Amino acid sequence: CAAGSEKSFSPAAPAVHSARLPKTCPRAPAAVSAATVAVHADFTEDRVSALSQVSGVLGSQWGDEGKGKLVDVLAPRFDIVARCQGGANAGHTIYNAEGNKFALHLVPSGIIHEGTQCVVGNGVVIHVSGFFGEIDGLESNRVRCDGRILVSDRAHLLFDLHQVVDGLREAELEDSFIGTTKRGIGPCYSSKLDVLFKDAASRFQGFKYSKSMLKEEVERYKRFADRLEPFIADTVHVLNESIQQNKKILVEGGQATMLDIDFGTYPFVTSSSPSAGGICTGLGITPRIIGDLIGVVKAYTSSVGSGPFPTELFGEEGDRLRKAGMEFGTTTGRPRRCGWLDIHSLALKYCCQINGFSSFTKLDVLSGLSEIKVGVSYNQADEQTLQSFPGDLDTLEQVQVHNICYASRYILFLGQLYEVLPGWQSDNSSIRSYSELPQAARRYVERIEELVGVPPYLALSIFLLLFIFIAVVAVIPQSY
Ligand code: IMP
Repeated sequence: CAAGSEKSFSPAAPAVHSARLPKTCPRAPAAVSAATVAVHADFTEDRVSALSQVSGVLGSQWGDEGKGKLVDVLAPRFDIVARCQGGANAGHTIYNAEGNKFALHLVPSGIIHEGTQCVVGNGVVIHVSGFFGEIDGLESNRVRCDGRILVSDRAHLLFDLHQVVDGLREAELEDSFIGTTKRGIGPCYSSKLDVLFKDAASRFQGFKYSKSMLKEEVERYKRFADRLEPFIADTVHVLNESIQQNKKILVEGGQATMLDIDFGTYPFVTSSSPSAGGICTGLGITPRIIGDLIGVVKAYTSSVGSGPFPTELFGEEGDRLRKAGMEFGTTTGRPRRCGWLDIHSLALKYCCQINGFSSFTKLDVLSGLSEIKVGVSYNQADEQTLQSFPGDLDTLEQVQVHNICYASRYILFLGQLYEVLPGWQSDNSSIRSYSELPQAARRYVERIEELVGVPPYLALSIFLLLFIFIAVVAVIPQSY
């Protein structure tokens, strides 16, 4: 569903205008990937081609919802795929038509499609050697990058020393560590505002950066300058010119709303704005042009960092989801924490208010469970139900404890915290149409739709993405 579409479901959805293109897209679709070929439903075709001139794919949970795959599927319909925030902390795994696997971190997922221009916007932080490492990997697999990637001349460089400081900061936090990807993201964004280096030298005993080491690093980066030069552009100008020329732009979000520096579970968050607002600041385009925002929601929840996770599953239950969903970090390889879908904190009251969207992935991972739970409300220690997602982590922690302690009682006697739905036994990964899904799987999707409050028009979007992802799951081994 679209933040800017006329039938936006939430009254609180941002009032942005949908700038729709004429029905015919100015650019013929480029070569389609295996994933795209697998998308069947006619209305899917219509909805995909009707996506706004500037659309976005954003995460609605704690990241790893499958945004990269969706961007890969949609990229042939867009002229430009742009990243607006984050850096190499993102890990988007995609496969090309020959089945070659690409783990992308900085390069936008549109790169696999020959005709798509990729833009790394001003809001992204760039580790240059990592960036070229990705390009080398792509080119050795015959993906042409030359002239296809533009890097903003306003984007900040992320140095190795940012990564060192990231690790030292985490060590300093001891048991309260954030669980960062140690890619230097926080320190790099901090040094946009502050002079980090002096502080780091006096603060961390293990900080080995001497003046000569700094000089060496700068020299090393100078050597990248020649190679980097052709990639650099005033991407604010390029994007705004492209909008004038009616070109279609797809924004690829990294991370997700629950990791947003403002709206996420601070301080267990990333240092950028992965929500809708980050698109404008990270690319330099007006909010008026942003149309459809597709929020990707996984059929359950995963998270790699620390912090409260009210619907987390431990022991065998958690292990089962982790194994079936291959929930191991693309960037760090860390096992992800897994749990039930948490309607309360996600689509219903919070993410949709902030971004105005909803959609669904990885339903097949839940196959084989006898029952499926959905977190529907948070009760506090005094048994009061929280009316909105709390900004205060102590409250959220209490909810978590309370939730876990009392979950079965509520399920058994009141049905209040978790709603329990019947599971389905058959494998649905090769199913291509919604009506062929097991009845219980449809019931699950429809119940979530009801809980989220998506009206029929928007429900189609959920199904659209469901179709896409059922198809993708069938064609491409899961690796998120
Ligand atoms: P940072 O972005 O490396 O500073 O990490 C901050 C938090 O965001 C940690 O909890 C990370 O695990 C999480 N995080 C960052 N990038 C991703 C991602 O792409 N997927 C999932 N979690 C992420």
